[in-house]
Amino acid sequence: MKHYTSINDIDNIDTWIEEAKALKAEPLKHIALGKNKTLGLLFFNSSLRTRLSTQKAALNLGMNPIVMNVSGDAWGLEFDDGTIMSGNTAEHIKEAAAVVSQYCDIIAVRAFPTLTDKAKDESEQVMNAFMKHASVPIVNMESATGHPLQGLTDALTISEYVKVAKPKVVLSWAPHIKALPHAVGNSFIQAMQKMDVEFVIANPEGYDLNPEITGNTPIYHNQEEAFKDADFIYTKNWSSYEDYGKVVNTDPNWMITKNKIGNAKFMHCLPVRRNVVVEDAVLDSDSSIVIEQANNRTYAAQLVLKKLLEDL
Ligand code: CP
Repeated sequence: MKHYTSINDIDNIDTWIEEAKALKAEPLKHIALGKNKTLGLLFFNSSLRTRLSTQKAALNLGMNPIVMNVSGDAWGLEFDDGTIMSGNTAEHIKEAAAVVSQYCDIIAVRAFPTLTDKAKDESEQVMNAFMKHASVPIVNMESATGHPLQGLTDALTISEYVKVAKPKVVLSWAPHIKALPHAVGNSFIQAMQKMDVEFVIANPEGYDLNPEITGNTPIYHNQEEAFKDADFIYTKNWSSYEDYGKVVNTDPNWMITKNKIGNAKFMHCLPVRRNVVVEDAVLDSDSSIVIEQANNRTYAAQLVLKKLLEDL
């Protein structure tokens, strides 16, 4: 594997899940693989789980992780070609990506969308610029349109808790006070479309995600109907795709409650706003598997790094 920037980079999700489980059982088994190799983690945006779990994954493989908050600590980066750089940007991505490649054997990047410029976000300008101008593999730690480390984690977590041959999995929108990206929802959809599950999406009118990603997955605008007989309820807020980046509805009736979920397991990528997205009674119950889900971020990242190291 050359890069890991999308769920589409997974050739066989069932095999990957088994490989991730093997790493979870013996995290230090491949500690010699990354000896004298450096992972650079570049953050244009905040993170708790991705920042720590990806470093832990690298350490489990014997790699040396180095971290930089690009937005706060680096020079302002220019991504457009041919620009007269007389404004706020002091360094072009052409030099920056090439230079970071001198120090790192793999580069992982987090860069959120603008949520104001749909075309720019869909062009994945930052991730593609790193892939073009770096000379080492690139890992997507959440980009404008995808969070494939999270999507792989979620697939692994479902496989650990599944009790029936073909579980029903629901991705449900829930209210939030801010406009949030589509990346987690998109990658979760792509991961579920690769798995042997009955998968449906629930969101209010006006919140249908990119039809090129949702494809043939059924979309319900009635949450109660979608939740019927669900085994897993994965909740996430996202802003409107059609009215791009806008909050068009904050209906509190879409908040996840204990009454609604029945016997289903509750999942969320975190961070989550309690009693806005989901009530305490869910998060504080045995129905919630969000902490194990976060734990699995390490093994999903470790599998991706292992595959990239093996192909260096
Ligand atoms: N789920 C997730 O990506 O968490 P962080 O934003 O804290 O990294």
